[in-house]
Amino acid sequence: MSASRFGETDRVSGGRAPTHIAHLGLCHSAPDWAAVFSQKWKFRQLDASNGVEFDCTFCHSLSYSVIDFWCRMNTKLENMLTLSEVCGSLRISRETAYRWLKAGRLYGVKVGRDWRFAPDQVQTAIAEHSSNYGVSPLLMADLFSGAGGLSLGFHLGGFRSVFFNDLDAECALTFQSNFPDAKPLVAPIQEISARDVFAATGIGPEDLDVLVGGPPCQGFSINAPSRSSSDERNHLFRHYARLVLEGIRPRFIVFENVPGLVSLDGGKTLAAVCHEFRQAGYEPCFRILNACHYGVPQERWRLVIVANRIGIHFDFPEPAHYSVSRPNFSGGRSLTYSYAARRSSAKTLFDEAIGLRDPVKVKEAISDLPPIKSGGGAEIMEYVSASSCDYQHWARNGSNRLHNHHCVDLSDINRRRMQHVQPGGSWRDIPRELLPEGMKRARRSDHTRRYGRLDPTGIAFTVMTKCDPHWGTVVHYSQDRVISVREAARFQSFPDWFVFYGSKGSQYRQVGNAVPPLLGKAIAGRIRYYLEPTSSVDLLQHKNLRSLSNAMSGALRI
Ligand SMILES: C[S@@+](CC[C@H](N)C(=O)[O-])C[C@H]1O[C@@H](n2cnc3c(N)ncnc32)[C@H](O)[C@@H]1O
Repeated sequence: MSASRFGETDRVSGGRAPTHIAHLGLCHSAPDWAAVFSQKWKFRQLDASNGVEFDCTFCHSLSYSVIDFWCRMNTKLENMLTLSEVCGSLRISRETAYRWLKAGRLYGVKVGRDWRFAPDQVQTAIAEHSSNYGVSPLLMADLFSGAGGLSLGFHLGGFRSVFFNDLDAECALTFQSNFPDAKPLVAPIQEISARDVFAATGIGPEDLDVLVGGPPCQGFSINAPSRSSSDERNHLFRHYARLVLEGIRPRFIVFENVPGLVSLDGGKTLAAVCHEFRQAGYEPCFRILNACHYGVPQERWRLVIVANRIGIHFDFPEPAHYSVSRPNFSGGRSLTYSYAARRSSAKTLFDEAIGLRDPVKVKEAISDLPPIKSGGGAEIMEYVSASSCDYQHWARNGSNRLHNHHCVDLSDINRRRMQHVQPGGSWRDIPRELLPEGMKRARRSDHTRRYGRLDPTGIAFTVMTKCDPHWGTVVHYSQDRVISVREAARFQSFPDWFVFYGSKGSQYRQVGNAVPPLLGKAIAGRIRYYLEPTSSVDLLQHKNLRSLSNAMSGALRI
């Protein structure tokens, strides 16, 4: 059939469409819609090699746009994707699909009340989407982002960061330098609206898979001087829920904080956080996780709330390593994976049986880094020795030069004090006359980590925002100096390619404030399983592990 059969009328739906299979050739450039609708657009003779077969009886009720679409896409109706399928594959909302259609990022056609898309066109859109947002189209965003420890964990877990918010310019510089594709919103969260987010990022409501955030924890912290629920910083989390209610409707919300939140005000603050999420339509669950259980060379307990609006009962990731610190805070038994917490570093038969690996030790974390002087080091230097264990290979992967390996200086008095402290020792090794006045009155069982020196065969203690021996164990095991920013970053499980910017003090703070990326990655991996069930191997492994561990706990009465 020649196009002239159609050419007799300017509109196929005009009633003179053929009733059998036709070969059509159309302009392969974008149609001139104005011309089409003013009925001046004509079909052209078909070149058989570019021909497309379709059933003209069906075409009878279709507009030119449908025919043009089929001819361009060389696709039959039954092979086309529906709008829901496209939204599912691209992980975008219907609103975004409509916006993309309008902007020409997606090419589809309306058939009756629905839209149809050619699979190869959707593939192109996925590829474009992926080049903008990484290999995976799973999208996340970070509130109270800091340097981006939690985002990095999600990045390592296959997510792409779309935007981040923090009021601190130095944090933002670090975040942006490491995740150049993420859109920065550098302002107090109180001043950010969902509309700002949509305008800055181009995403639409419901496009995000995960919204993560760790509001400042000082107000919640059990170590803070005032543990009051009236502390303004304790209420910043409400802005989280506000943004969700304003229209950012991620599938999952992840909220990270200190374990002290569980007991603050008799649990009222935690209940208020959960209430806010429920009000926004999300079902929360929480657990206290130890970073060490996920391969981080550090004992660091964190409360993690995961809430979702897709009706999922969320299972937190199971430990892969055992730890050597037992939780001594509220919820320490009921909310932790206590079966993986030990008193000593010796591996037990139980650990062997359920496949818990050794924790990553201090020496494994940092022994390949060059010696530096107290107050010395540099922003950039060369590696001087090869990496010598799995953790070091992993940390150095993707980095040719060493960044942020510099430290603050010890004061004279602290240098004299620390000369008395052996690896694994603390203030108790310091002669009384050298101790600060306050410490002279302390009981020997108190403050056991102050003025501590790292034990190369042990696990690092919680990395803090200030590298001051008065507050913890921050002195290197074989050099008379505090740990460098990079060493702190290694203890937090930042790979070396992740570079910190800002003053030295700010860099320490950014590292100390961060969620250890490997902990974030474990949470991301579990969420990914729920969003993409094809990656279920990991979960199945863990499920088996857990049933085994539950069975063994019962048998061994652990
Ligand atoms: C605990 S840190 C977050 C660390 C981050 N989750 C990470 O993994 O690296 C809290 C961050 O909240 C930021 N912050 C504090 N008050 C804020 C506010 N009103 N608006 C936005 N950010 C704020 C701080 O600058 C800080 O970087």
